[in-house]
Amino acid sequence: MRLLQMCRIHVLGLGLVVIMAVGLTIQLLGIHFLKRTHQNISVVQPVSSSPPRTCHPKQHIVFLKTHKTAGSTILNVLHRYGDRNGLVFALPFKYQFNYPNLFHSRRVKGFTAPIRPMYDILCHHMRFNLPEVRKVMPPDSFYFTILRDPATMAESSFSYYRSVSSAFKKCPSFQAFIANPTRYYKPGERSNHYARNLLWFDLGFNPDAPFTEPLARAGSRAMEKTFNLVLLAEHFDESMILLKEELCWELDDVVSFKLNIRAASKPLERSEVERLRAWNALDWYLYRYFNRTFWDKVQKFGVTRMANEVKKLKERKQQLAEMCLASSEPVKAEDIKDEAIKPFQFGQDKIMGWAIRKDLRPNDRSRCVQMVTPELQYKDLLDARQFPGGSWNGSDLELTPGKIVGR
Ligand SMILES: *[C@@H]1O[C@H](CO)[C@@H](O)[C@H](O)[C@H]1NC(C)=O
Ligand SMILES: *[C@@H]1O[C@H](CO)[C@@H](O)[C@H](O)[C@H]1NC(C)=O
Repeated sequence: MRLLQMCRIHVLGLGLVVIMAVGLTIQLLGIHFLKRTHQNISVVQPVSSSPPRTCHPKQHIVFLKTHKTAGSTILNVLHRYGDRNGLVFALPFKYQFNYPNLFHSRRVKGFTAPIRPMYDILCHHMRFNLPEVRKVMPPDSFYFTILRDPATMAESSFSYYRSVSSAFKKCPSFQAFIANPTRYYKPGERSNHYARNLLWFDLGFNPDAPFTEPLARAGSRAMEKTFNLVLLAEHFDESMILLKEELCWELDDVVSFKLNIRAASKPLERSEVERLRAWNALDWYLYRYFNRTFWDKVQKFGVTRMANEVKKLKERKQQLAEMCLASSEPVKAEDIKDEAIKPFQFGQDKIMGWAIRKDLRPNDRSRCVQMVTPELQYKDLLDARQFPGGSWNGSDLELTPGKIVGR
């Protein structure tokens, strides 16, 4: 069904022109919703070795934040960029858009159809639903997302959603789950989307559809039509370089410290990896499909050029780490005294964070704090800025019992 909806978008070309015209009119009339210009000017000098650019930075962005795929780190990149450039976020009332239900425009704080506010960035957890996303975001938005090998992703999901998903709760161990998932998994039971084809689910597709190659291919192609760029968590640095290139951003915009990290887990056995990929066959197809498009893009970008850019990115990250961080390794939440940068704890493993050096000058400090501010706290800051006085509290919308699980 969703697939059909996505395909129909083709036919909507004409509608799009109309929407663009309306959007332009709204902008010309100067009703650019909520736009403000607060610049956080930092004394920290960004690296300026790259030649002058001819492209124009893209600032209308849709990021589908998939689960357990390094999405929290990308959220930090987007939060910081929007914050620094005074962009307007389409925010949820709480921390996600009524997940695991499909995204709906009425879940965006302050959205009042039909006079559509022009948001710049939409990036918090949702189950993707293109027609509703299009109601909220400008027609020229850049869409991207990130995928991860479903085997390691399943392990991470198990650890994080152990107490939430019915299938995970029933089994004594991850090994037991791997050995015989159908024994524990019943489609539609509470939060079982975390237990099978989670990527496919987050994209708005049916994770329990029996695997067939034509179905998997059609889903992948529909996704390829919608998303300008699909990143891979296993190749995070290369992903950030491709993102920087396509958005026409600066290196410093995409430098980040890894956030929402678990204390190290035991690597999977070869046979476990294979079983998990087979169990998540739709996701595994998707992953291989976009692995191909990813490396095609790297080829086009230039393999040597990519290696150079990744090297620059790593060096800059190292520089900023030395400047900002109290230790080169992430630390346990209880060792972070400042509530503003303490990571939220969830699941059976500890979630680690970063402590900031104590001897920083105020401007440097504020920049460093931004880099390690976890997504929940950063969302609260942006929210407070966009809605001073908290006039949109959404208390009547988001408090549906039993719906909000995980993050
Ligand atoms: C991804 O693509 C690379 C380059 O073509 C290839 O070497 C690798 O085996 C692929 N991985 C998967 C999981 O398909
Ligand atoms: C929040 O919204 C509800 C109804 O929408 C309203 O009754 C309440 O007064 C609001 N609270 C605040 C703090 O604005």
